[in-house]
Formats: sequence, C-alpha cells, structure tokens
Amino acid sequence: MRRRTFLGAAGAAAVTLAVSGAALAQEAVKIGLILPMTGPFASTGRQIEAAAKLYMQQQGDTVGGKKIQLIVKDDTGVADVTKRLAQELIVNDKIAVMAGFGLTPLALAPAPLATQAKVPAVVMAAATATITEASPFIVRTSFTLPQATVPMAEWASQNGIKKVVTLVSDYGPGIDAEKAFTGAFTAKGGQVENLRVPLANPDFSPFLQKVADAKPDALFVFVPSGIGAQFMKQFVERGLDKSGVKLIGPGDVTDDDILNGMGDVALGAITTQHYSASHDSPENKAFVEAFKKANPGMRPNFMAVGGYDGMHLIYEGLKKTNGQGGQALIDAMKGMSWTSPRGPVSIDPQTRDIIQNIYVRKVERKDGELYNVEFATIPNVKDPVKAAKAN
Ligand code: PHB
Repeated sequence: MRRRTFLGAAGAAAVTLAVSGAALAQEAVKIGLILPMTGPFASTGRQIEAAAKLYMQQQGDTVGGKKIQLIVKDDTGVADVTKRLAQELIVNDKIAVMAGFGLTPLALAPAPLATQAKVPAVVMAAATATITEASPFIVRTSFTLPQATVPMAEWASQNGIKKVVTLVSDYGPGIDAEKAFTGAFTAKGGQVENLRVPLANPDFSPFLQKVADAKPDALFVFVPSGIGAQFMKQFVERGLDKSGVKLIGPGDVTDDDILNGMGDVALGAITTQHYSASHDSPENKAFVEAFKKANPGMRPNFMAVGGYDGMHLIYEGLKKTNGQGGQALIDAMKGMSWTSPRGPVSIDPQTRDIIQNIYVRKVERKDGELYNVEFATIPNVKDPVKAAKAN
C-alpha cells in the first residue's frame, strides 16, 4: 500500500511537470517585426529581415529559458497598415516587443499603441530625431539624421567648401538633415541654399537644373535608403558629374546595398554615417561574411546593422528580465552598451537613442567593389537635437 502511494505521488508530480513544461513551451516570447517588404522601400525591409534572422541563427532561439518567435509582417510602406499590424500583433499574438519600422511615418503611427499596451518598440531604421519622444516605450538602434549630419557640415567647412545647395526628401528625416547641415555650416560662415523634393516618386531633374545654375562648391543630398540609385542616374543625366560640384551628405545616398550598381559616378562622394560594410574591425568582418553567406548576392547596409543590433538589444534585454516584456524590458535596455559591427555603441538612458561613432567616408573602389571607405572618426556622438534641449 505504502509503496503504491509513493508511486502514485511520483506519477502525479511527473504529470504536473509535463503540464507546466507544455505551458512553458506555449509561453514563447514573440517579437513582431513590421517592415516594408514590398513597395519602393522594400530594400530596407529585406536588409533588416535578413540581419534579424542572421542574429537568431547565430545566437539560437532560446533566451532566458524561453523560446523566441519572430513574426515578420509587411506593412508595404503604408503607415495605416503599420498601425493595424501593430494592433493585431499586440492583441492577437500577445507580442512582448515590436520592432522594425522602415520609415519615419511608419515608426510614428504605432507609437500611441506602444504607450497604451506598454509594449517596447525597437526602431531599427527610421531616423527623424523626434521619434523617440513619441513614446517612452520607443528605443532606437538606427541613428538620427542630425547625428549623422552635423559632422558633414564640419568636414565641409574645414575642406574649402563655401557654398552648398542642400537637396532633401521633403519629410521628417530630410528636414532634420537640412536644418542640421544649414545650422552647423552657416555657423562656420558657409553659405547655403535649400531645395526639397517630394518623397513619393521623386523627379530630381528640375531640382538638379537649379543646382547646375547655382554652381555651388558642393551638393548636399539626403534621400532615404534605396532611392540613391535613382538620384545618381539623374545627377549624371544633368551632367552634374562633370560640373565639378562635389557630392556630400549623410550616407543614405551611397548606401551599401545599391552603391555597387551606381558605377564610377559615385567615386569620390564624401558622406558621414555610422556604418560602412568596409568598416575595419573583426566584428564587422565576421558580420559581413556571415550576412553574405546567408544571403547570396546581398551586401549588408546601415539598415542591416540597425536590425542586427536591434535583435541584440532585445536578446540582452530579455536575458536581464528573464523573458519579461513591458516596462521591465524597456528599462533593461536603457544604458546597455556593446560592440556592434559599426563600432562601440550604447543606448542613451535619457533619450533611448543610440550613441555611436560617426565616420567620414569616401566612395572608393576596393577589390573590384565600390565602398564607403572610412577615413576619420567622430567618437560617441549623441543626437544633437536632444543634447541641445537637455542643456
Ligand atoms: C526615415 O524615414 O526616417 C528614414 C528612412 C530611410 C533612411 C533614413 C531615414 O535612409
């Protein structure tokens, strides 16, 4: 009798264990990755998805004893769709964290949902300075346009450039780039004329004609990642490549995904940014090699590194919280620092923006490919817009 009771109790314990094991397995921590996978900004979606999947392939899909599940959704680059998808992921899938956000309007649309539901949102691409102020649950692993642009103004003023025309896509990040450049460059005595081109289906030629007429020392350009090739084609068609006008700007126009296809016209362009596929570090060499191996025919650009680091931030945050999301997860992410393929980075605990090096680069041919070759470093740059507000 005694013995039987003992076995019975052990059996019951085994059943309890099996049940809680099943419950644990069901409790996968879900990450909702919302990206433009189709439409004009699909290259951003492709780069970030590839990098996020590479990170998971390298680090495994268990964190703090919990299974990680990545759910990728295509918002087609339309903000209303981003918002609807975020809502569905929060309510139906019970995601612990959302991420991605390929353009500024796509990052702003779900911000109120992040706040209401207390779901952290990791912005891996969008780069208008104000985005992190839209919700205390937003954290960013991309960059801000002012962060990348102020060093460009400094380089230009130190290198004999006196007169500049700025040409930017007419929305958040373009306006940020225009303001940051104009403010910093005129403060050093430079002269600037501002032009803005529509974001959707841009025709650069009438603007480029104005540039040709103004004969500046340099043309400063911001177009979002993926659009640079279209711009470069019209730059050549207008004969600006032979006019002696220097091409400068934040690095979005010469992004590593499309730079190779631009040909010699891109040679000599000077840009400032946080990531180049040719960044010389062991971490980056390993990243580029693994990315290319997992995605034949692709080369990682700054969007990819935003996605890769975003996954790192999520994984390390979840390790600290033992898989818990919400306020605990966003708090765990604040102040985190690590060595990224782009160099040393940290999350500013005050602004939830990323603090990182900005590099000055020149397009050169290396081993038969075009690269943004870094030749100067400005270390640990914060978003200057928020830094100015804090002072
Ligand atoms: C943005 O919409 O915030 C954005 C998109 C692409 C870039 C930079 C900024 O390359």
